[in-house]
Amino acid sequence: MRTIDDLVGHVRAHRCSTHPIFRHWSAVKPEPDAVGALFHQIQKFCASTRPGGNFPEALKRHGMVSESGLLQEIVESEENHGPELATMAGYILNRAAGRTVCPDLRDQGAVEGKLRECSDRLLGTLPGYDRENGLTVQARKAIAVFAGRERTDRESTFRNLGTALALEMISNRHLIPGEKHCLVDSGIYGASMDDPEMHYLVEHWGEAGAELQHEKNAFEAVSSVLNEETERWILEGADDFLDSLAGLWDVLDSALLRSGFAGSDTLVPSASRRPSEAVRT
Ligand SMILES: [Fe+2]
Ligand SMILES: [Fe+2]
Repeated sequence: MRTIDDLVGHVRAHRCSTHPIFRHWSAVKPEPDAVGALFHQIQKFCASTRPGGNFPEALKRHGMVSESGLLQEIVESEENHGPELATMAGYILNRAAGRTVCPDLRDQGAVEGKLRECSDRLLGTLPGYDRENGLTVQARKAIAVFAGRERTDRESTFRNLGTALALEMISNRHLIPGEKHCLVDSGIYGASMDDPEMHYLVEHWGEAGAELQHEKNAFEAVSSVLNEETERWILEGADDFLDSLAGLWDVLDSALLRSGFAGSDTLVPSASRRPSEAVRT
């Protein structure tokens, strides 16, 4: 039987855990449309991961009362993260563009509208791009994994636990550190963790960040219910998440590599960076 350490090792070994997208972002310095488009897809994906749906209640129903409490804590701590992510995205987009694209960074709807326009311009011709909601096929697949939180049967509930563990591990170890790397540490945007507009990252990153606590909660919840019967479902839930997010990173990575205008010669041959031509990675 797999131990919790085996499961953690499995997540860490998945290619999603080491995806080069954020390294490429800082190397390539993507054009403003790519910055906005990436934030749009990431924002939509992140928004789908926040609501608990029926998941905490289903845990209770199947006798996992303390696990339900641990998951409920994560859901509650996500409150207000949508507006803060929009503020940060608009702030970075303004700096990437070198002009004010988003005049009111506290107007979540207006900022998200600008991000959406970037996405439609940059990614709108991709096969399967949904013009209704501005989502790539890959973003829709990643989001669909979280629709599973509406299901309350036993198998789905364990799958959702596996998804939660993988989500929180990736958020804490790859997504948030990756954003800090390309948005702050790279120096591209002259942004600092002290800027009030970057509060989203301060809230999520590091020892005092929300994601570390989320990861601990998910780890504890999965540890206490992992057994010979449940391990298959938990692993399936983790893999559904990891595979679909890796697919989303692939398509966004490809878009940002072909949009880069500085310092990307070692990553992509310059002839491949014509706007109309997709880079195959
Ligand atoms: Fe959050
Ligand atoms: Fe989280």
